[in-house]
Amino acid sequence: LSKEQADEVRHAWDKVKHNEVEILHEIFKEHPDIQNKFPQFAGKDLEQIKSNSDFSTHATRIVSFITENLSLAGNPDLLPAIKTRVNEMGQNHRNRGVTKEQFNEFRSTLTDYVKHHSSLDGDAEHAWNQAFDNVFFIIFSNL
Ligand code: HEM
Repeated sequence: LSKEQADEVRHAWDKVKHNEVEILHEIFKEHPDIQNKFPQFAGKDLEQIKSNSDFSTHATRIVSFITENLSLAGNPDLLPAIKTRVNEMGQNHRNRGVTKEQFNEFRSTLTDYVKHHSSLDGDAEHAWNQAFDNVFFIIFSNL
């Protein structure tokens, strides 16, 4: 991503990144197969686990991972650091049996969420999609 593109994605993300619990809730609600990959959440009532500290801890982990990578984006010198983190995350998730389809489901729900809660259109939407294409290319090479 160019510096400008990274700024556009960060700007959109800044408006939703504090809604961690709501984001994870939305993802599990639309894709119970993702929820069921988590030993601590599988088969449980989503509305009940939503208020557990386990749930918010995990929601924060996911959101922080995105926030941290975005803070490095747009600077070619920091690209190796992003690649290392994303490769590691891809390996961890391969070991848990997470599929490409599930990552795509995650992406689709998250993108819809950001569209509805932020101003993601035009160049910003293009930059967002580019960011996910780049990151998913790395993740998928590990699955
Ligand atoms: C950890 C599943 C996508 C970030 C985990 C864990 C599971 C899991 C089972 C271990 C949780 C624990 O034992 O506490 C999934 C599934 C996904 C998915 C089924 C399907 C789409 C993602 C995405 C991100 C992410 C897209 C980041 C944007 C993390 C992080 C951790 C984690 C940061 C904790 C660190 C680690 O152990 O790797 N995930 N995950 N996950 N996940 Fe995911």
